[in-house]
Amino acid sequence: MPQSSIVMSDNPFILDNESAYQQWKKHKLENYPRSLADLIVKVKDPLQLSTDELAAITALLHKTNMVIYDLEQQDVADKAIPEQLGRQLGISSLDKNECADEDGFTSIQVVEEGLHAIYIPYSEKGINWHVDGYYNRLSEQIYSMILHCVRPAAKGGENQLWDNEIVYLLLRDENPDYIQALMAPDAMTIPENILDGKLVRPDRSGPVFMLTEEGRLHMRYTARARNVIWKDDALTQKAQQVLRELLNSNSDYKFEGRLEAGQGLICNNVLHTRLAFQDDKNRPRLLYRGRYFDKICL
Ligand SMILES: [Fe+2]
Repeated sequence: MPQSSIVMSDNPFILDNESAYQQWKKHKLENYPRSLADLIVKVKDPLQLSTDELAAITALLHKTNMVIYDLEQQDVADKAIPEQLGRQLGISSLDKNECADEDGFTSIQVVEEGLHAIYIPYSEKGINWHVDGYYNRLSEQIYSMILHCVRPAAKGGENQLWDNEIVYLLLRDENPDYIQALMAPDAMTIPENILDGKLVRPDRSGPVFMLTEEGRLHMRYTARARNVIWKDDALTQKAQQVLRELLNSNSDYKFEGRLEAGQGLICNNVLHTRLAFQDDKNRPRLLYRGRYFDKICL
Protein backbone atom coordinates (compact mmCIF):
# COMPACT_ATOMS: atom_id res chain seq x y z
CA MET A 1 0.00 0.00 0.00
CA PRO A 2 1.52 3.39 -0.92
CA GLN A 3 2.31 5.62 2.03
CA SER A 4 -0.30 8.24 1.13
CA SER A 5 -3.05 5.60 1.31
CA ILE A 6 -1.89 4.63 4.79
CA VAL A 7 -1.95 8.28 5.85
CA MET A 8 -5.44 8.76 4.40
CA SER A 9 -6.87 5.57 5.93
CA ASP A 10 -6.76 7.09 9.41
CA ASN A 11 -7.17 10.70 8.36
CA PRO A 12 -9.74 12.30 10.67
CA PHE A 13 -11.00 14.67 7.97
CA ILE A 14 -12.29 11.86 5.76
CA LEU A 15 -15.92 11.19 6.64
CA ASP A 16 -15.59 7.40 6.61
CA ASN A 17 -12.88 7.50 9.29
CA GLU A 18 -15.22 8.03 12.23
CA SER A 19 -13.04 6.61 15.00
CA ALA A 20 -9.99 8.60 13.79
CA TYR A 21 -12.20 11.68 13.76
CA GLN A 22 -13.46 11.11 17.30
CA GLN A 23 -9.92 10.60 18.53
CA TRP A 24 -8.68 13.72 16.76
CA LYS A 25 -11.65 15.74 18.04
CA LYS A 26 -11.01 14.76 21.67
CA HIS A 27 -7.40 15.83 21.34
CA LYS A 28 -8.29 19.03 19.45
CA LEU A 29 -10.77 20.27 22.06
CA GLU A 30 -8.62 19.40 25.05
CA ASN A 31 -7.42 22.67 26.59
CA TYR A 32 -8.38 24.59 23.46
CA PRO A 33 -7.72 28.32 24.07
CA ARG A 34 -10.84 30.42 24.53
CA SER A 35 -9.47 33.93 24.53
CA LEU A 36 -7.25 35.92 22.23
CA ALA A 37 -4.84 36.55 25.10
CA ASP A 38 -4.05 32.81 25.10
CA LEU A 39 -2.78 33.11 21.52
CA ILE A 40 -0.14 35.73 22.27
CA VAL A 41 3.57 34.94 22.48
CA LYS A 42 5.98 37.66 23.55
CA VAL A 43 9.03 37.90 21.33
CA LYS A 44 12.23 39.71 22.12
CA ASP A 45 14.06 39.54 18.79
CA PRO A 46 11.97 38.45 15.79
CA LEU A 47 15.10 38.01 13.69
CA GLN A 48 16.36 35.40 16.10
CA LEU A 49 13.69 33.58 18.08
CA SER A 50 14.78 31.93 21.28
CA THR A 51 14.19 28.20 21.69
CA ASP A 52 11.32 28.90 24.10
CA GLU A 53 9.69 31.48 21.81
CA LEU A 54 9.89 29.14 18.83
CA ALA A 55 8.45 26.29 20.90
CA ALA A 56 5.55 28.46 22.12
CA ILE A 57 4.79 29.67 18.59
CA THR A 58 4.94 26.16 17.17
CA ALA A 59 2.75 24.74 19.95
CA LEU A 60 0.03 27.32 19.26
CA LEU A 61 0.18 26.78 15.52
CA HIS A 62 -0.22 23.11 16.20
CA LYS A 63 -3.18 23.64 18.53
CA THR A 64 -5.10 26.50 16.93
CA ASN A 65 -3.44 27.03 13.53
CA MET A 66 -2.70 30.61 14.57
CA VAL A 67 -0.51 32.61 16.91
CA ILE A 68 -0.06 36.30 17.66
CA TYR A 69 3.45 37.48 18.35
CA ASP A 70 4.03 40.58 20.41
CA LEU A 71 7.39 42.24 19.84
CA GLU A 72 9.27 44.04 22.54
CA GLN A 73 10.17 46.76 20.05
CA GLN A 74 7.07 48.32 18.49
CA ASP A 75 6.59 50.78 15.65
CA VAL A 76 9.34 49.35 13.44
CA ALA A 77 8.51 49.42 9.74
CA ASP A 78 10.74 46.60 8.57
CA LYS A 79 9.61 43.78 6.33
CA ALA A 80 12.58 41.76 7.59
CA ILE A 81 10.41 41.07 10.67
CA PRO A 82 7.71 38.96 8.94
CA GLU A 83 10.25 37.70 6.41
CA GLN A 84 12.62 36.33 9.04
CA LEU A 85 9.84 35.03 11.28
CA GLY A 86 8.56 33.09 8.29
CA ARG A 87 11.98 31.67 7.50
CA GLN A 88 12.39 30.46 11.08
CA LEU A 89 9.11 28.56 10.65
CA GLY A 90 10.16 27.15 7.30
CA ILE A 91 8.03 29.35 5.05
CA SER A 92 9.54 31.58 2.37
CA SER A 93 7.68 30.99 -0.88
CA LEU A 94 5.62 34.16 -1.24
CA ASP A 95 2.65 34.62 -3.55
CA LYS A 96 3.72 37.73 -5.44
CA ASN A 97 0.21 38.73 -6.42
CA GLU A 98 -0.52 41.82 -8.49
CA CYS A 99 -0.92 44.07 -5.43
CA ALA A 100 2.28 42.90 -3.74
CA ASP A 101 5.35 45.09 -3.37
CA GLU A 102 8.57 44.20 -5.24
CA ASP A 103 9.73 41.94 -2.41
CA GLY A 104 6.53 39.88 -2.43
CA PHE A 105 5.07 41.32 0.76
CA THR A 106 1.99 43.51 0.46
CA SER A 107 1.65 46.83 2.25
CA ILE A 108 -1.95 46.90 3.44
CA GLN A 109 -2.86 50.55 3.71
CA VAL A 110 -5.46 52.96 2.35
CA VAL A 111 -4.72 53.66 -1.31
CA GLU A 112 -6.86 56.15 -3.16
CA GLU A 113 -5.58 55.77 -6.72
CA GLY A 114 -4.49 53.14 -9.21
CA LEU A 115 -4.90 49.37 -9.21
CA HIS A 116 -5.07 48.94 -5.43
CA ALA A 117 -7.87 51.48 -5.03
CA ILE A 118 -10.47 49.15 -6.58
CA TYR A 119 -9.91 46.47 -3.95
CA ILE A 120 -11.48 46.63 -0.47
CA PRO A 121 -8.34 45.75 1.55
CA TYR A 122 -6.87 49.11 0.50
CA SER A 123 -9.83 51.06 1.87
CA GLU A 124 -11.24 51.71 5.34
CA LYS A 125 -14.06 49.25 4.75
CA GLY A 126 -14.59 46.02 6.61
CA ILE A 127 -13.83 42.70 4.94
CA ASN A 128 -16.16 39.73 5.41
CA TRP A 129 -15.10 36.17 6.30
CA HIS A 130 -12.55 34.67 3.95
CA VAL A 131 -9.27 32.85 3.73
CA ASP A 132 -6.55 34.47 1.69
CA GLY A 133 -6.16 33.56 -1.97
CA TYR A 134 -9.55 31.81 -2.21
CA TYR A 135 -9.55 32.80 -5.88
CA ASN A 136 -6.15 31.19 -6.59
CA ARG A 137 -5.94 28.09 -8.75
CA LEU A 138 -6.00 24.83 -6.76
CA SER A 139 -2.32 24.22 -7.45
CA GLU A 140 -1.41 27.62 -5.96
CA GLN A 141 -3.28 27.72 -2.70
CA ILE A 142 -2.14 29.89 0.17
CA TYR A 143 -1.32 27.59 3.04
CA SER A 144 0.14 30.10 5.47
CA MET A 145 0.07 33.82 6.10
CA ILE A 146 1.79 36.47 8.20
CA LEU A 147 0.22 39.83 8.96
CA HIS A 148 2.53 42.25 10.72
CA CYS A 149 1.17 45.48 12.18
CA VAL A 150 3.41 48.53 11.87
CA ARG A 151 0.66 51.01 12.81
CA PRO A 152 -2.96 50.27 13.75
CA ALA A 153 -5.81 52.54 12.65
CA ALA A 154 -6.83 55.51 14.76
CA LYS A 155 -10.03 53.60 15.43
CA GLY A 156 -11.22 50.08 14.53
CA GLY A 157 -9.65 47.58 12.14
CA GLU A 158 -9.99 44.58 14.46
CA ASN A 159 -9.77 41.06 13.06
CA GLN A 160 -12.06 38.16 13.86
CA LEU A 161 -10.54 34.71 13.55
CA TRP A 162 -11.78 31.14 13.33
CA ASP A 163 -9.59 28.06 13.33
CA ASN A 164 -10.57 26.19 10.13
CA GLU A 165 -10.34 22.84 11.93
CA ILE A 166 -12.82 23.96 14.61
CA VAL A 167 -15.22 25.17 11.91
CA TYR A 168 -14.93 21.77 10.21
CA LEU A 169 -15.54 20.03 13.55
CA LEU A 170 -18.64 22.05 14.47
CA LEU A 171 -20.10 21.68 11.01
CA ARG A 172 -19.43 17.92 10.89
CA ASP A 173 -21.02 17.45 14.29
CA GLU A 174 -24.08 19.35 13.14
CA ASN A 175 -24.43 17.26 9.97
CA PRO A 176 -21.67 15.29 8.20
CA ASP A 177 -23.59 15.75 4.94
CA TYR A 178 -22.59 19.42 5.03
CA ILE A 179 -18.94 18.38 4.98
CA GLN A 180 -19.58 16.00 2.11
CA ALA A 181 -21.26 18.78 0.12
CA LEU A 182 -18.49 21.28 0.86
CA MET A 183 -15.78 18.78 -0.08
CA ALA A 184 -17.24 18.34 -3.57
CA PRO A 185 -14.82 19.51 -6.28
CA ASP A 186 -17.50 21.80 -7.73
CA ALA A 187 -18.94 23.16 -4.46
CA MET A 188 -17.72 26.72 -4.90
CA THR A 189 -16.86 28.64 -8.04
CA ILE A 190 -15.11 31.98 -7.93
CA PRO A 191 -16.29 33.85 -11.02
CA GLU A 192 -13.86 35.29 -13.52
CA ASN A 193 -12.34 38.71 -12.92
CA ILE A 194 -12.45 41.11 -15.84
CA LEU A 195 -10.67 44.46 -15.56
CA ASP A 196 -11.00 47.06 -18.33
CA GLY A 197 -12.32 44.38 -20.69
CA LYS A 198 -9.35 42.09 -20.03
CA LEU A 199 -9.65 38.68 -18.39
CA VAL A 200 -7.48 38.83 -15.28
CA ARG A 201 -8.63 35.47 -13.91
CA PRO A 202 -10.96 32.78 -15.30
CA ASP A 203 -13.66 31.00 -13.26
CA ARG A 204 -12.09 28.87 -10.52
CA SER A 205 -14.05 25.91 -9.14
CA GLY A 206 -13.12 23.78 -6.18
CA PRO A 207 -14.12 22.46 -2.79
CA VAL A 208 -14.45 24.51 0.40
CA PHE A 209 -12.79 21.86 2.56
CA MET A 210 -9.92 20.00 0.97
CA LEU A 211 -6.98 17.92 2.08
CA THR A 212 -3.38 18.70 1.31
CA GLU A 213 -1.03 15.99 0.04
CA GLU A 214 0.05 15.52 3.64
CA GLY A 215 -3.55 15.00 4.69
CA ARG A 216 -3.98 18.34 6.43
CA LEU A 217 -7.21 20.31 6.24
CA HIS A 218 -7.28 23.34 3.99
CA MET A 219 -10.12 25.74 3.17
CA ARG A 220 -11.13 27.91 0.26
CA TYR A 221 -13.81 30.35 1.30
CA THR A 222 -15.27 33.81 0.95
CA ALA A 223 -18.52 35.08 2.41
CA ARG A 224 -18.79 37.84 -0.20
CA ALA A 225 -21.89 36.82 -2.13
CA ARG A 226 -20.87 38.56 -5.35
CA ASN A 227 -17.49 36.80 -5.35
CA VAL A 228 -18.81 33.26 -5.29
CA ILE A 229 -21.23 30.97 -7.12
CA TRP A 230 -22.36 28.05 -4.98
CA LYS A 231 -23.24 24.71 -6.56
CA ASP A 232 -26.91 24.77 -7.34
CA ASP A 233 -28.22 21.91 -5.23
CA ALA A 234 -30.22 22.00 -2.03
CA LEU A 235 -27.56 20.41 0.21
CA THR A 236 -24.72 22.71 -0.91
CA GLN A 237 -26.98 25.73 -0.54
CA LYS A 238 -27.99 24.65 2.96
CA ALA A 239 -24.38 23.79 3.93
CA GLN A 240 -23.05 27.19 2.85
CA GLN A 241 -25.87 28.91 4.73
CA VAL A 242 -25.15 26.94 7.93
CA LEU A 243 -21.43 27.66 7.54
CA ARG A 244 -22.15 31.37 7.15
CA GLU A 245 -24.38 31.39 10.25
CA LEU A 246 -21.75 29.50 12.22
CA LEU A 247 -19.02 32.01 11.34
CA ASN A 248 -21.24 34.89 12.42
CA SER A 249 -22.48 33.21 15.59
CA ASN A 250 -21.34 34.10 19.07
CA SER A 251 -18.94 31.37 20.01
CA ASP A 252 -16.02 31.32 22.38
CA TYR A 253 -14.08 29.45 19.71
CA LYS A 254 -14.17 32.65 17.67
CA PHE A 255 -11.40 35.10 18.46
CA GLU A 256 -11.51 38.85 18.02
CA GLY A 257 -8.93 41.51 18.61
CA ARG A 258 -6.82 44.19 17.08
CA LEU A 259 -3.20 43.89 16.10
CA GLU A 260 -1.33 46.75 17.71
CA ALA A 261 2.04 48.13 16.61
CA GLY A 262 4.69 45.42 16.80
CA GLN A 263 2.16 42.60 16.87
CA GLY A 264 1.46 40.14 14.12
CA LEU A 265 -0.54 37.11 13.18
CA ILE A 266 1.10 33.94 11.91
CA CYS A 267 -1.39 31.34 10.74
CA ASN A 268 -2.20 28.41 8.53
CA ASN A 269 -4.45 30.72 6.50
CA VAL A 270 -7.33 30.63 8.97
CA LEU A 271 -10.71 32.23 8.36
CA HIS A 272 -10.67 35.93 9.18
CA THR A 273 -12.48 39.22 8.82
CA ARG A 274 -11.38 42.82 9.18
CA LEU A 275 -13.70 45.33 10.75
CA ALA A 276 -14.00 48.80 9.25
CA PHE A 277 -11.65 51.48 10.57
CA GLN A 278 -10.92 55.18 10.63
CA ASP A 279 -7.50 56.31 9.61
CA ASP A 280 -5.43 59.15 10.98
CA LYS A 281 -3.98 60.65 7.79
CA ASN A 282 -0.80 61.61 9.63
CA ARG A 283 -0.31 58.13 11.04
CA PRO A 284 -2.11 55.85 8.60
CA ARG A 285 -2.77 52.19 9.31
CA LEU A 286 -0.03 50.02 7.86
CA LEU A 287 0.30 46.26 7.91
CA TYR A 288 2.66 44.01 5.98
CA ARG A 289 1.14 40.82 4.68
CA GLY A 290 2.97 37.78 3.38
CA ARG A 291 0.97 35.04 1.68
CA TYR A 292 2.83 31.76 1.34
CA PHE A 293 2.48 28.70 -0.82
CA ASP A 294 4.36 26.80 1.92
CA LYS A 295 2.82 24.92 4.77
CA ILE A 296 4.31 25.67 8.16
CA CYS A 297 6.20 22.55 9.19
CA LEU A 298 5.11 21.54 12.66
FE1 LIG B 1 -7.29 38.31 4.31
